[in-house]
Amino acid sequence: MKKFTNSLLLLILLLSFEVTRQDCAFTVDPDGKPQVAKDKDAKPQIHKYSAPFICDKIYTGATCCNDYQNNQMASNFLQIDATFGSIGNGCDNCASNLKRFWCTYTCDPNQSDFVVIGPKPIVVPNPIDEGATTLTVQDVSILVDSQTVCDVWSSCNLTPYATQVSAMKTPAGFLSFQGANAVTQAAQSIRVNYTSDASKNPLTLHNITKCNAPQPKVNKDPAKAQPWYPDAWGFNISQNCSCNNCADACTLAVFTPLPVMQGFDYLVVGLFYGFLLVFTIGCWFFRRRRQMKKDQESQQQLEQQEQQEQQYEPLHAEGAQENQQNE
Ligand SMILES: *[C@@H]1O[C@H](CO)[C@@H](O)[C@H](O)[C@H]1NC(C)=O
Ligand SMILES: *[C@@H]1O[C@H](CO)[C@@H](O)[C@H](O)[C@H]1NC(C)=O
Ligand SMILES: *[C@@H]1O[C@H](CO)[C@@H](O)[C@H](O)[C@H]1NC(C)=O
Ligand SMILES: *[C@@H]1O[C@H](CO)[C@@H](O)[C@H](O)[C@H]1NC(C)=O
Ligand SMILES: *[C@@H]1O[C@H](CO)[C@@H](O)[C@H](O)[C@H]1NC(C)=O
Repeated sequence: MKKFTNSLLLLILLLSFEVTRQDCAFTVDPDGKPQVAKDKDAKPQIHKYSAPFICDKIYTGATCCNDYQNNQMASNFLQIDATFGSIGNGCDNCASNLKRFWCTYTCDPNQSDFVVIGPKPIVVPNPIDEGATTLTVQDVSILVDSQTVCDVWSSCNLTPYATQVSAMKTPAGFLSFQGANAVTQAAQSIRVNYTSDASKNPLTLHNITKCNAPQPKVNKDPAKAQPWYPDAWGFNISQNCSCNNCADACTLAVFTPLPVMQGFDYLVVGLFYGFLLVFTIGCWFFRRRRQMKKDQESQQQLEQQEQQEQQYEPLHAEGAQENQQNE
């Protein structure tokens, strides 16, 4: 009898452990608001998605991301393409690495290993109007593997978008900036902690694509105006990255997070593009003038040559006469 009650107790204990174990940290409800994952949402599930699952090459089994989160990611990934990808003169490998990062953050079945939700929502300045209004958002912190941050950052740090925003000049600042964008895009304020200690189960991405990795053209669809080729993670590659948007250096020594929105000045970004336009036009004129000068020079050279040839003949004739006279 005692044995039986003992096993019963053990069973109850095991069951309650099974029920209370929290694998998923957060979820998103139908109106797009993030919530702490409770009850059955705390467990990874095989979700039914109304649109193709955007992380399907990364996760095939149960995940922590529901249909609303899948839709949210799909629209955020379009923004990543427009800012960091080749559409924004950036690098598609960088965009792919970022998407992988957000897929892991949102969908990983062990999400609560590296995502901690604060006890209550927090009020933060709205970055859209530079803090004139406030937003009430979910208080999130994540623990990320330092090498992962560094590798993703080095694949992105030369994209035009990242070079315009001084907050993104360091790996840590880069991720804080991404986290700050979640304020408007996902109603979450994400603080980032770093560790190199794998035993703490930080968010870790292995085999991060280097920005200079050539991506083969596969499954080309010639009917598409802008053909794209899915990479190993299923994300859009439309062209290889170039030295205009890809640097391969990153030192782990620069881990000093900058204040998140520092340097993100829409006026400066606008001015930058204005400057770029002026520079481009200036450069075009400069090259045109140089070309015209070159044409002029070669024209002059041609004329000089012709003159020299004309002068040379009589000189030669005279010389020959002189030689004859000397003899
Ligand atoms: C989640 O964690 C468990 C136990 O730590 C591990 O066996 C499993 O592989 C992890 N799953 C993923 C997708 O990382
Ligand atoms: C990040 O660090 C803060 C402060 O040390 C801590 O409260 C929080 O729980 C940490 N988050 C994670 C995910 O480790
Ligand atoms: C990383 O890539 C190597 C070589 O392509 C492969 O053997 C390894 O399994 C990959 N690791 C992970 C975690 O995907
Ligand atoms: C890739 O880009 C094409 C066209 O720009 C778009 O229709 C498609 O949904 C994108 N696919 C992914 C996985 O982002
Ligand atoms: C990338 O470059 C490789 C070789 O350098 C080439 O075979 C491949 O087609 C290129 N990929 C794209 C998407 O242009």
